[in-house]
Amino acid sequence: MVSSDHNDQSESAETASSHGELQGVTGTLTSRSIRSFVIRNGRMTEAQQEAIDQWLPKFGITFRQQSIDFEETFGRIAPTWVEIGFGNGDALLHMAEQHPEVNLIGIEVHAPGVGHALLGIQSKQLENVRIIQHDAMEVLQHMIAPQSLARVLLFFPDPWHKKRHHKRRIVQKEFVDTVSERLQSGGLLHCATDIANYAEWMLEHLQTATQLVNESGTHDFVPQPDWRINTRFERRGLRLGHDVFDLLYRRT
Ligand SMILES: C[S@@+](CC[C@H](N)C(=O)[O-])C[C@H]1O[C@@H](n2cnc3c(N)ncnc32)[C@H](O)[C@@H]1O
Repeated sequence: MVSSDHNDQSESAETASSHGELQGVTGTLTSRSIRSFVIRNGRMTEAQQEAIDQWLPKFGITFRQQSIDFEETFGRIAPTWVEIGFGNGDALLHMAEQHPEVNLIGIEVHAPGVGHALLGIQSKQLENVRIIQHDAMEVLQHMIAPQSLARVLLFFPDPWHKKRHHKRRIVQKEFVDTVSERLQSGGLLHCATDIANYAEWMLEHLQTATQLVNESGTHDFVPQPDWRINTRFERRGLRLGHDVFDLLYRRT
């Protein structure tokens, strides 16, 4: 399992990462020292493994230090959205179905989740989704050209509750700057979380980005936009009585 034990990352992240951080991603990870995930041995069903073997070559993009040519990859010119940490892919597939006019790239390191998403892509015959099984920060930095994205979506990222693990939260200055550079003018960054402390953290970090404007009239949260369906981790948060926070920023 990846660090997706959303509310209890009990094992030391340092220990877990040294067990297997290089497994389960395509391409070679560069030498970033602090990552927003750890890979633990996850339960992979036979169907998920088969989907990875059979469909990742077709729907996957292998990590490399070269910008993706969206037109060549999708065979058309269309707005491109990127979902970071798509989990089992429910939101990704929903957006792909609801928005056939859009190209979607999903980034996830959790192999069972990748397998699950691939099964859905294949069974729904979705032509407008591609998967990258790699660290999203590296993908954004090395594979996405500046000002090329119409949307970046980050739903229920691992909250890394303990203060000493906050450095592992994916939303950091580096993330905000990188996303900001990758968005086209008018492009959107949409984040959602059910952890109040992480919502505040997101606001604090995002308000430092001079090229991102908060879309809520009150400089904080917006009602759930219609392109986001309730995800597995959101449902879990709701069961625990958490509020859900959506943040929406537009690139100037
Ligand atoms: C708490 S889960 C949420 C999954 C899904 N978005 C949802 O709402 O159900 C966070 C996911 O982000 C993935 N993740 C964390 N850091 C990542 C990174 N740097 N690159 C790619 N995936 C990452 C984890 O593997 C995990 O599946």
